[in-house]
Amino acid sequence: MKLTVLGGGGFRVPLVYSALLRDHERGRVTQVRLYDTDRPRLDAIARVLREQALDHPDAPEVMLCTDLAEAVAGADFIFSAVRVGGMEGRLCDERIGLSHDVIGQETVGFGGISYALRTIPAAIELAERVHALAPDAWVINFTNPAGIVTEAMSRILGDRVIGICDSPVGLARRALGALGISSASVEIDYAGLNHLGWLQRLVVDGEDVLPRLLARDDLLESFEEGRLFGAPWIRALGALPNEYLHYYYYRREVKHADQRAAQTRGGYLLGQQAGFYDGVAKGEGSALALWEEARFDRETTYMVTNRESVGVGERDEEDLVSGGYERVAIALMRAIAHDQKARLILNVRNRGILADLDADAVVEVPCIVGASGAEPIPGSRLPEFGRGLVINAKYVERCTIEAAISSSRTAGVRALALHPLIDSVAVAGSLLEDAIASFPELAYLR
Ligand code: G6P
Ligand code: MN
Repeated sequence: MKLTVLGGGGFRVPLVYSALLRDHERGRVTQVRLYDTDRPRLDAIARVLREQALDHPDAPEVMLCTDLAEAVAGADFIFSAVRVGGMEGRLCDERIGLSHDVIGQETVGFGGISYALRTIPAAIELAERVHALAPDAWVINFTNPAGIVTEAMSRILGDRVIGICDSPVGLARRALGALGISSASVEIDYAGLNHLGWLQRLVVDGEDVLPRLLARDDLLESFEEGRLFGAPWIRALGALPNEYLHYYYYRREVKHADQRAAQTRGGYLLGQQAGFYDGVAKGEGSALALWEEARFDRETTYMVTNRESVGVGERDEEDLVSGGYERVAIALMRAIAHDQKARLILNVRNRGILADLDADAVVEVPCIVGASGAEPIPGSRLPEFGRGLVINAKYVERCTIEAAISSSRTAGVRALALHPLIDSVAVAGSLLEDAIASFPELAYLR
């Protein structure tokens, strides 16, 4: 099988490759084409992969491409993980947001909308090229903000594009871990949009074990999301929120912590990543060791201001192993390739599953995955307290897509002003002006 990675010079590519190296079964991936517009980054990642492949005689062949047609033609699967505007862009969004007293995080509120506005045109172009060059390929979208980018791409690729995120399954894993359950056959009842959903039931051997967790403060506060939201609030909801809901439920505290921090997340990662890529280019020792070190550091500091904002300490050691998103991606790819009927939480078109949203709205829900793709499993529904927020967020996403497709500033302001984390129409206008002035990629907005 042939896999293409768009954004092949990206920092997380070695996670994908390590998962491929662990797969020895028939029908596995034998060729990986890494496509990137940034040759030095591509070369650095290729060096890491070469070290990973040592002692793996059956390691998938790696090809480096800076030509999209060459990268995509004949691919069975395409992972799309691009960052339009780079880490500099992430930092710039954070700064603009905080300067107007709103959160600038890359997937939530202003930061998410700005990032989407510069990413959607590129994602649509990629989708069109894939549709023309490899119409039978499956596209697995990692590009953030993943829900909205997947929805934009689905307008061209239909259900052949599937968005993924590690946070829902990570939440379920941590919740089960708190209960001491490691059962493989768990039905996770989770529904929402990407980075905006809730785990409502965890069914193990026919029994919903979530009430057992909700009844115990000590267990609830023994894992990341439990500590972030606090046992009383989780009990008040009767469901476990995705960690990104912290930006909504503790917006004031997180914003203040972000404003107090010496560096934003993007600023921190910009320096850290530059250190890694430069270090590899200069041949400062083992590329793999440099990557491991940077990865561990990145995991350790993940969501650090959120944790600081509510006074919770360091992350658990088991959460540092990896983000786990490569595991979701590989599981999805194998389930399609081998018609495995796997149950995974994915970003797919709603097709009537969530009653509050239309059929084409991309939602994050449990799906059954086989040779014909990912089908949302009937029975999901939004929690009562989450319906308004999700309907609002989807409307904002639609305005953002409309702004990108029809080059409309008006739609952009509508998206920003109607987002619950942006508290003034005037601020929405200023945010958009600043973004347009800062990003050449937004020059299309009129
Ligand atoms: C989680 C999210 C991803 C996001 C990442 C950011 O894994 O699910 O969507 O890209 O965190 O991590 P970072 O280290 O870039 O802050
Ligand atoms: Mn995610």
